[in-house]
Amino acid sequence: MSKNRARLLLVTTLLLAASLACQTITQAFTVETDRLTPAASPTSVGGQSGNDGPVNTPLAEEASPDNPQPGAAGFGDPYYPNFGNGGYDALHYIIVLDAEIGPNTITAEVTMQAAALEDLTSLNLDFVGLEVDRVAVDGVEAQYKRSGGELTIYLPAPLSAGEAISVSVAYHGTPGRGVDLSSRPEYEIGWGHYGEGVYIAGEPGGASSWYPVNEHPSDKATYEYHITVDDPNVVGANGLLQETIPAGDGETTYVWASVHPMGSYLTTLAIGEFDLETSQSPEGVLIRNYFEESIAQSSRNEFDVTGEMLDYFASLFGPYPFEAYGVAVHDTPLGFALETQTLSVFGSWFINEEVIAHELAHMWFGDSVTLATWQDIWLNEGFATYASWLWYEHAYGDGIMDDIVNDYYDVMASFPHQPPADPGADNLFSDTVYTRGALALHALRLEVGEDSFFDILYTYHETYKYGNASTADFMAVAQAVSGQDLGDFFQAWLYETELPDIPQLGLSADDF
Ligand code: TRP
Ligand code: ZN
Repeated sequence: MSKNRARLLLVTTLLLAASLACQTITQAFTVETDRLTPAASPTSVGGQSGNDGPVNTPLAEEASPDNPQPGAAGFGDPYYPNFGNGGYDALHYIIVLDAEIGPNTITAEVTMQAAALEDLTSLNLDFVGLEVDRVAVDGVEAQYKRSGGELTIYLPAPLSAGEAISVSVAYHGTPGRGVDLSSRPEYEIGWGHYGEGVYIAGEPGGASSWYPVNEHPSDKATYEYHITVDDPNVVGANGLLQETIPAGDGETTYVWASVHPMGSYLTTLAIGEFDLETSQSPEGVLIRNYFEESIAQSSRNEFDVTGEMLDYFASLFGPYPFEAYGVAVHDTPLGFALETQTLSVFGSWFINEEVIAHELAHMWFGDSVTLATWQDIWLNEGFATYASWLWYEHAYGDGIMDDIVNDYYDVMASFPHQPPADPGADNLFSDTVYTRGALALHALRLEVGEDSFFDILYTYHETYKYGNASTADFMAVAQAVSGQDLGDFFQAWLYETELPDIPQLGLSADDF
């Protein structure tokens, strides 16, 4: 590969960051703040206002059957302590939602089936904007309170640890309105309405812009969607389409189900006038792509390589983990793509072989094995980036990898940056996470050798598939599989600011 080609790759990564920043700014200025709920306090990261007392602190008293307590309003993520909630484990969501695309309004009822982890008097869901009409717990109407992005549900009767519970929330309104998003930029992309369609891209915290959820990737759950839209719009979503049901008045209900658990940031809907194009990978994995009708044939053709890529990644990382793959390509100029489970989101112009490989690779690393906390983001982005380099190596020849690594090493050596396994909450999608994360994997490959390296990737996925993993989990797999003491190696690559040498390639940060 020429240097130009590798530079091009880099440009795509930088564009991603720039466009995310842009979205942040535009949406912050266009949002309405005068509706429904009080704005989150400007200082809060995850959106709780101060009324509930400190979040993410241990319960004042130990909950016990005699002394049930309120569930915590935050999960305790090291970067976003208020994301998610404590006290329960969400198992399954049923999302029944009617969407009017023109006015961009929804009417919905969402049921979360969960298991209590503590003896509880109340529990929280994350939910931003929209108007709540009714809350029920096991079919019985329940009291609730809203504060910033927190919906607190008072249980009609205390719940014991281990008990099952079903919480339903009926609501309506326009997603993304009603809170001061400028104080919580991490929520600004979620329900994306662009005139003739809707995409959903909610990483890390945008799911709560359209449904009440335990918004932390560590609480994965299965999902079922019943989405009603006006004809001729169609609905794509995660998993498999189960049924299309005529709903009268020129409307149709699309029933989708994802049998494999998902992190909330990986849930998506694609609503609009789409063509469905179905195929299979050479090895027989179902691929269903949704292209908005106006998407050019040349753009559609870019995705023809998907099946071959999918089978290649499966040969390296293990069998494709889900029931199908595909993309939803919206005719709006998104500057990013997102690896929503089984159906990645694309816009009309961020389409190229690298990004196609990157989002597909996330199905193993990010979607099947999901990061344990947001600090572990390099386990998603470093791996997906490296997987796209592996694809280039496979497709264009061995020499390309050295060129890519050389060029990116050069780039990372040229500016000070945070270490990939602790980039900071404000740098979640920065170069150190994507590029130095990928370089660290290549350095690991050179350190432990080909066989061990690919064995590590396979074993890591095999061990943690459909669950969560932390950086420590990955390091433990690498040590166990290679039989090498990699403590210093990982410390230098993942936790120290200084860019380590890659002696096997004669690369040293001192030379730059
Ligand atoms: N995870 C995306 C990727 O594949 C990038 C991303 C981060 C993103 N946050 C997002 C995309 C929010 C859409 C919306 O690299
Ligand atoms: Zn990614």
